[in-house]
Amino acid sequence: MKFLILHGPNLNLLGTREKAIYGEHTLETINACINIFAQQAGHEVTFAQHNVEGELVNAIQQAVGRFDGIVINPAAYTHTSVAIRDAILAVDLPVVEVHLSVPSAREDFRQVNMLADAVVGRVEGFGGDGYSLALQGLIRHMEDLSLETSS
Ligand code: DQA
Repeated sequence: MKFLILHGPNLNLLGTREKAIYGEHTLETINACINIFAQQAGHEVTFAQHNVEGELVNAIQQAVGRFDGIVINPAAYTHTSVAIRDAILAVDLPVVEVHLSVPSAREDFRQVNMLADAVVGRVEGFGGDGYSLALQGLIRHMEDLSLETSS
C-alpha cells in the first residue's frame, strides 16, 4: 500500500525547535526512520511538510486515488482548523493523527482537537517513533477492513 506522511507547520524546524518538548531529531531523520519501517513492512511512503493550512488541505484532497491512507501531524492546526477537519471528512481515505508530545497534557489552548472524531486513531507522546506506530495502526486498520469486505 501507499501512504502519505503529512507534517504540519513548524515541524520543518524539528531538531532546533523546543527540544525539551519535541526532541533532538530533525524531520529528515524522522522521515528516514518512517521510511525504513515502511519498507520493512512492504509498503511505500511519500512525505510532505507544509506550513500553510491551505497547502495541507490541498495535499489531503490530492491524496485521493494516489494513496491508501494518510498519517498526519497537523501541529498547531490540530487546535484550530475546520478546513483540515473538513478535508479529512471529505476524502474517502483513512487518516491517523500523530503528535510528538501529548497536547492534552499541555496548555489550555491545546485541549481543543478539531480532528478527534474525523480520524481513525491517534498516537501521541512517543516523539518521532509515533509516526511508525501510527503507520502500523493504519496498516492493521486497512487489513481489518479488507478482511471484513472479503468475508
Ligand atoms: C504537536 C502538538 C501541537 O500542539 C503543536 O502546535 C505542534 C506539534 C506535536 O507533535 O506534539 O506544533 O502537533
